[in-house]
Amino acid sequence: MTTRVTFVGHSTFLIESGESRILIDPFLADNPATELAPADVQVDTILVTHGHGDHIADLVEVASNTNALVVSMVEISRWLGEKHGLTNLHEMNFGGTVQLPFGSVKMVPAVHTSGLPDGSYGGLPAGFVIRFPEGTVYFAGDTALFLDMELIARAGIDLAFLPIGDNYTMGPDDALEAVKILNPKRVVPCHYNTWPPIEQDPAAWAERVNEQTDTECIVLGSGQTIEL
Ligand code: NI
Ligand code: MN
Repeated sequence: MTTRVTFVGHSTFLIESGESRILIDPFLADNPATELAPADVQVDTILVTHGHGDHIADLVEVASNTNALVVSMVEISRWLGEKHGLTNLHEMNFGGTVQLPFGSVKMVPAVHTSGLPDGSYGGLPAGFVIRFPEGTVYFAGDTALFLDMELIARAGIDLAFLPIGDNYTMGPDDALEAVKILNPKRVVPCHYNTWPPIEQDPAAWAERVNEQTDTECIVLGSGQTIEL
């Protein structure tokens, strides 16, 4: 079996693992970093970290088209059911793990906010630690640096996707600290250069990671893929 993660752009990822196809944080139509249209996406599972538009914008369309199982925080899950009529939902909360066909998904905290596009309360924002047969991946979602990343590190992270854009999330300095705490084998930066407030130089950040840590930093362009 193989597991491949494609960086769609901004904070959206498409994962192919065995027979499973998983979409994380569906932001497509208005995402300046991708040409991929919601109608072109074929997935069986969607994970969403929090309720902000640049993570959830196209979720209802993709879920409706594909009948994919949507895994999210309780409040987002209920909103998707009650306000949007989705039925293939799996609600969870921090510390919980769900076994899915491709592996296990654990919901972990993130330090951010999570209001939904229509102003509804979306609960708290999350990250995901996913155990695939080939390794363990941490999708941090939108987050500040927080010391409980020490606990997340204990899962043994093979690959981490961390925001470096600053302004809405941790910036390059704090993301470097996060790498030192998490100690993943490899790290890929995300959530940068989509709009002016989050402009960053990912190559410069990669150089710092590679010089100061044992982690290998890989910068993925939109549409590029990394194999576990
Ligand atoms: Ni956000
Ligand atoms: Mn965001």
